Amino acid sequence: MRKRVIVAVAAAAGLAVALVWSRRSAWRWDRAERIVQELREGCQTPVTRLWEVADAMASEMRAGLSSEGGSSLRMLVTPIKSLPTGNEEGLFYGLEIGRMAIRMLCVQLGGRDACVIKKGSAEIPVPSNLMVGTSEDLYDFIAAELSKFISAEDLSYNIQDGRLKEIGVTFSFPVIQNLASNGTIIEWTNGFSIKETEGKDAAAEINKALEKHGVDMHVSLLVNDTVGTFAAARYCSNDIVAAVTLGMGTNAAYMEPLHDIPKWQGPHLMQGVMIINMEWGNFQSSHFPITEFDVQIDAESPKPGGKIFEKLISGMYLGDIVRRVLLKMAEETALFGDSVPLKLRLPFVLRTPDVASMHQDLSQDLSIVGEKLEECLGIRNTTLRMRELVVEVCDIVAKRGARLAGAAIVGILKKLERDGTDKKSVVMVEGGLYEHYRLFRAYLHDGVKMMLHGRNLDNVIIEHLGDGSVIGAALLAASNS
Ligand code: BGC
Repeated sequence: MRKRVIVAVAAAAGLAVALVWSRRSAWRWDRAERIVQELREGCQTPVTRLWEVADAMASEMRAGLSSEGGSSLRMLVTPIKSLPTGNEEGLFYGLEIGRMAIRMLCVQLGGRDACVIKKGSAEIPVPSNLMVGTSEDLYDFIAAELSKFISAEDLSYNIQDGRLKEIGVTFSFPVIQNLASNGTIIEWTNGFSIKETEGKDAAAEINKALEKHGVDMHVSLLVNDTVGTFAAARYCSNDIVAAVTLGMGTNAAYMEPLHDIPKWQGPHLMQGVMIINMEWGNFQSSHFPITEFDVQIDAESPKPGGKIFEKLISGMYLGDIVRRVLLKMAEETALFGDSVPLKLRLPFVLRTPDVASMHQDLSQDLSIVGEKLEECLGIRNTTLRMRELVVEVCDIVAKRGARLAGAAIVGILKKLERDGTDKKSVVMVEGGLYEHYRLFRAYLHDGVKMMLHGRNLDNVIIEHLGDGSVIGAALLAASNS
């Protein structure tokens, strides 16, 4: 009898525990789904809002061309003498500095019929201590690497005796210029933070390092990376209207008639047109769909209030937005276990390529999502339902970024009165985010399609251009040599 009572009490207690547990679990799910629902609402980008963003972009462009500091867009004028035409001949070099690495390229240009005959290239990661050290150390490293690159180069290249090798340099940073052969870096970004560069001419500094290392080479031109991409794109297509970088950082460059740049007081070059480095990462608009996670990222960044657009759309930040949403779920719902995994608290530990892998996981049980959560964030033993929720978070964040990037492109087309004409308008996009994140790319294209529906959409072509920046550097060195 006593035994029977004990068993009955134990069963009742078990039932009660199970009931509490299942209620807790239902509450967790309810709360987690509510967090995702709030995120979805906060990130909404209906076409009306996308047009508001595009209109704001067009008017910020006008304001930035009128006066310095009159807009969130810097609209930096790049005073190059000429764009590559295809007639250039000789051996030229390109160097790209940025995105945690330097890229070097050598091209033999054979004139109108032969164009680019031969290419050699190398990519070298920049040691992390040099990314935050002095400009002298960084430029010494670059000169030494260039020296190795040239010596390793195939000797069958047609080098013209006695001619100094010319190199075009692109930087993934904003540069102020009077002439394209000099330039002062305004701000180091994309992982670099170099001291003592204020007011120094970067081209002259690199030339000094080249001389010191006995490298028979001269920087003939130095421009922003997106300007380099524009030049390379122009070489490929006469219908090019803008170049966009969508990678760790983001930016756009395009060509503007001089009479539409009231703020430019410098020389009149290139038959009345100038390339504008928009520095669109700084774009700000009250129409942006901003969430608490964006506010946190901005507040904790080295420059709160700066690069707001970049913080919403670029590869540097998408991963961290997703991480912050998952952290909120872990803290408020204990969905991923009773204690929050330590890794989940580490800023930028989840990178955008990992978000892309989870978002694009085609396996039935979302096994890649499970692996990435464990590997990157220390979240173990996830259920399929949890993994589905994570994919949804990735989808919301990537979709918002991609559609905003598309709206910004439409804004440029609008400024150029190309958002509904019978003229073909090509926009070339470079960068890993666009190249490797298929769903991001698809959302960007869909957004543009929806915005331009019924407005000669077929005349707007958005395409990928690989290695545009460093190829553009070499081509610009050729056309401005
Ligand atoms: C920089 C731009 C650069 C872009 C793409 C941004 O963070 O400010 O100058 O063009 O990244 O690399």
